[in-house]
Amino acid sequence: MLLFREKPPANWLPKVLANLPAVLVDHAHLERKAATSALNLEKYRDLFPRVGELNAIAIEELQHFQLVLDLLQRRGIPFGQPYPSPWIAGLMRAVRNGQRHQVIDHLICCSLIEGRSCEKFQILAHELKRVDPELAAFYAGLVESEGNHYATYLLMARGIDEDETQRRLDSYLELDAKLIREPNPLPMLH
Ligand SMILES: [Fe+2]
Ligand SMILES: [Fe+2]
Repeated sequence: MLLFREKPPANWLPKVLANLPAVLVDHAHLERKAATSALNLEKYRDLFPRVGELNAIAIEELQHFQLVLDLLQRRGIPFGQPYPSPWIAGLMRAVRNGQRHQVIDHLICCSLIEGRSCEKFQILAHELKRVDPELAAFYAGLVESEGNHYATYLLMARGIDEDETQRRLDSYLELDAKLIREPNPLPMLH
């Protein structure tokens, strides 16, 4: 179902496994930002009819945020500052201005972020099974929800303009493949 043209780089998983507490803090912020993104999409006229669905996503992301915060607390990991993600910033920089263009690009960005989360949570659910079963189960429990968000955002874009979404998705998938290869030494998911 995921359309990505490039896998996460080989050094992504070892970096994450070696820095789990910092990555969990980053994950908490990622869920917080996902809730904010769903709310930000509600400013577009084309999405006014979908505002209830966007609220539902925002609520789900806020619940994910709280789940990560609870996990941090159980593990005695203090909540900390967010790092900016060069990959997310790179995707968002390509969002064009203008109502129709902007909403489609913004939806595709949100979709790809959700899709990459879905993909990486799946990898972590598998790789953590032996070393940290609690965390493995935690990530496995999030995969379906992030996969649904990925599909929902993409369908919302297609519902506004199918052809334009297809064109922009193609260029965004190229951009994603280029950006994901750029080295990021920071302990973060994206
Ligand atoms: Fe989430
Ligand atoms: Fe999500």
